[in-house]
Amino acid sequence: MWGGRFAQRPSDIMQAINASIDIDKRLWREDIRGSKAHAAMLAAQEIITEADNQKIQAGLDQIAAEIEAGAFVFDVGLEDIHLNGEAGKRLHTGRSRNDQVATDFKLWVMGACDDAADSVRDLQKVLVNRASDHADWVMPGFTHLQTAQPVTLGHHLLAYVEMLERDMMRISGAGGAAGDACPLGAGALAGTGFPINRHATANALGFLEPAANSLDAVASRDFALQALSALSIAGVHLSRLAEEIVLWTSPQFAFARLSDAWSTGSSIMPQKRNPDAAELIRAKAARISANLAALTAIVQKLPLAYAKDLQDDKALSFEAFDAFDLCVRAMSGMMETITFNRDALREAASKGYSTATDLADWLVRELAMPFREAHHVTGAVVKRAETLAAATLAELPLAEFQAIEPRITEAARALLTVEQSAASRDSYGGTAPVRVREQAALWAERLADTD
Ligand code: ARG
Repeated sequence: MWGGRFAQRPSDIMQAINASIDIDKRLWREDIRGSKAHAAMLAAQEIITEADNQKIQAGLDQIAAEIEAGAFVFDVGLEDIHLNGEAGKRLHTGRSRNDQVATDFKLWVMGACDDAADSVRDLQKVLVNRASDHADWVMPGFTHLQTAQPVTLGHHLLAYVEMLERDMMRISGAGGAAGDACPLGAGALAGTGFPINRHATANALGFLEPAANSLDAVASRDFALQALSALSIAGVHLSRLAEEIVLWTSPQFAFARLSDAWSTGSSIMPQKRNPDAAELIRAKAARISANLAALTAIVQKLPLAYAKDLQDDKALSFEAFDAFDLCVRAMSGMMETITFNRDALREAASKGYSTATDLADWLVRELAMPFREAHHVTGAVVKRAETLAAATLAELPLAEFQAIEPRITEAARALLTVEQSAASRDSYGGTAPVRVREQAALWAERLADTD
């Protein structure tokens, strides 16, 4: 390509460190789209003839057909996707690989964000279904991973639906941001003297407008950082759910069981059912945020405008999007078929005197006791239950309550089951089955509207 300037070929290692074709050939569709739009614009502006444009369009179509058919041979000697393929020597007029790669990559990120947002939507639908099936299944709610108050499984699952909604918005927002300004026509860094029409190419490629500053257009990768940040945060949420699957499916918790299709065995321990996919979601989420960190470190030290460091943006981003796609699909598969153990959940919910707050609330409500005092009385009741080895407060005889506070009635004691406790938390956003059913129905409606 630059043979006019050099007498020697590049060394093999130079070629190996420099070539990106093995990675960026994935941009072939975007590269051809961009090239077709550029050639058509050059012809419309009479920078090239219509006959040349026709030849270029046909040449690009042919390359696309060959790549699609697996018949195109990519050549590392030609370094990258922008130099592979002989589609007309006039195509490069008024364009550089610097604006070309930024354009291709933005187009790719736009598409990848759309796909990622769709798969997040699919996972939300799975979770909403499972939540409405388990709206009144009581389980322990934790703080510090210590039993705190009973919650419903449906409520717990809907918590992830909320997180994923924000993830979906961030990911689509990143795709939208990539589509704002079109770099094509920025040239190597300073624009071009050819009378190109950047509004026409920006428009043809689905961007809002041409980038207004050529240096910014070729040097900036914050659109990719934004996309990887969105994926990284979504990865955090997937990883937390994965972590819960690992805990819940352990024999110690025994809250849930993964289907055979989503479990793996051990080569030595025949009884094992391992949650490998959940574990790998945790690992891949870590890699997604590591790729964000790597790209941040690459971009932050570069003076304007383009530097070859930026070439590594694509490997990092492709890997992050691929990992994310696998994670979301694996999570959907696991959550679609995971089964929960109602008795184990209920039993765990009753452990650790999880309804103590309900007694304290009753003392405040019915006896007008200050909360501080109610807290103290309830603490004494819990201590008494522990001494008598009563498994739950609901099992403690009324006389024991009354020995501590004579005004406690049978009606108060009856409130201390885990079902009553969960049902009583019916404030907006609370865990009561009525609220969970409402929310699940709202989500089902909302998600159906997005189909
Ligand atoms: N393969 C390069 C990249 O991905 C394309 C741009 C090359 N530009 C240059 N000035 N060497 O960044």
